[in-house]
Amino acid sequence: MFSFLLTAAALAAQVATAADVFAHFMVQNSYAYTVDQWKADMAVAKHTGIDGFALNWIPPDCQADLSWSVDRIADAFEAAEDMKFKLMHSFDMSYTECNIFWNQTFMADILTKHAGSSATYRWNSNILVSTYGGDQADEYGDEFFQGLKDLMKSGSNSISLAPALTTYSMQAQTDPNGASSDLIENYPSIDGYLNWQAWPLDMDKNITIGPDKALQSSLTKAGKTGPYIMSVSPWQYKDLNDGNPLNAWVAYSDYLFPDRFESITGPDAFQPDIIELLTWNDFAESHYIRDLPDKDDETATDYVVLGDHGNYVWGQDHSGWRRMVRYYINYWKSGKRPTINRDWVVYWYRIHPKDAVCAGGLSTPIRNADFPADAVFAWALLKDYATVSMSVGDNKYWDFDAKAGVPAVGMVPFPSDLSGGVTPEVSIMRGGKMVEINKGPQPINAECEWANFNPVVGIIKPS
Ligand SMILES: *[C@@H]1O[C@H](CO)[C@@H](O)[C@H](O)[C@H]1NC(C)=O
Ligand SMILES: *[C@@H]1O[C@H](CO)[C@@H](O)[C@H](O)[C@H]1NC(C)=O
Repeated sequence: MFSFLLTAAALAAQVATAADVFAHFMVQNSYAYTVDQWKADMAVAKHTGIDGFALNWIPPDCQADLSWSVDRIADAFEAAEDMKFKLMHSFDMSYTECNIFWNQTFMADILTKHAGSSATYRWNSNILVSTYGGDQADEYGDEFFQGLKDLMKSGSNSISLAPALTTYSMQAQTDPNGASSDLIENYPSIDGYLNWQAWPLDMDKNITIGPDKALQSSLTKAGKTGPYIMSVSPWQYKDLNDGNPLNAWVAYSDYLFPDRFESITGPDAFQPDIIELLTWNDFAESHYIRDLPDKDDETATDYVVLGDHGNYVWGQDHSGWRRMVRYYINYWKSGKRPTINRDWVVYWYRIHPKDAVCAGGLSTPIRNADFPADAVFAWALLKDYATVSMSVGDNKYWDFDAKAGVPAVGMVPFPSDLSGGVTPEVSIMRGGKMVEINKGPQPINAECEWANFNPVVGIIKPS
């Protein structure tokens, strides 16, 4: 009897568990996109194991005319239908400066417009709807959300609502239980939740899974039927360079990416329903995993104008991180360690020491600038046991061992002498022989033109 009950419970849990992976997509960066460009992005995302994009957009009348976003989203649905890819709306409700806000009629219209599409992502047969924010502006809040749900229900297109209410996610970093019970009490309209806080919040500490556990368990206890969405991100650095100290920061992200992925794989892993990668293409916040567009090709269908942000984004390729994503998604979805029959090492580093005084980009001090270690970090995924050896300038042969098919991490600190710029070297040593060697994509320099805490990502991959 006891074992029967367990089985029934396990089955019930399975029905509600999706194990899908979304990547947060900034629609504002899709201005030049064609249907084919959407397909190209979706193909890369699918290869990485990603099932869909969460489309972040701001009210189309906010800022200079953004009415084109509606057309790009229609193109995205067309592409996704062809690619068997999923899309969910993630309404950005954090904008207040333009004094134009989302309204329920417009949101309902756009959700209804795509309700019949095979690309529309559903949760328990309802359209899944997410947000960034909705708790900070007086125009929104629980009643607004309930109104949207009622409107959709009356049109026979019920939604499941899993917003990212950032005040609660921030509070959960230091007070997980308080934040969780406040959330349930203040937002009866929600079905699920996206915990946006994928980075340690202004703390010189590794993030833990505690807040995710508390938030998920309070949803379950409250009988909510929506998904618990956990966010995972490689890094965060943003600099608006506008003289406002609130607008320039870095989050402690040195080991963040492998750390957070490790917490959802393996035997005692935390089990979210959905993982949302932050982000696919938020260049200004330095957590993109998409390839960078060509800076100079104005005719490219992924062309973007980055302004000042470009000073710390152009040249900082992050594509190597997708290899880590692919490994951990595969592991998380299958519940088994993937078999590895090639050698990979992904490594990342900032290109200036944290004390570097730069000519530009320092209109205010960068918050948390002391937190990151001046070091090159590596993550190895090898087919057989080997030693990974890292050198940078005078710091030579910092080694770590990796077993067959089990990721291992290591680091080498920046040397004190960076004169002329030093480029890291990473190699794989097996059976007394060097089997691979790779030079970092950029040198590390003490002199800098622009404050830059956005890392470059190098990769040793099968040749
Ligand atoms: C609702 O929002 C849309 C898109 O921002 C806007 O065009 C429209 O004027 C708004 N409607 C009302 C009644 O505010
Ligand atoms: C974060 O974790 C890594 C190991 O995963 C450790 O080396 C590092 O010291 C930790 N950072 C802090 C600030 O505790």
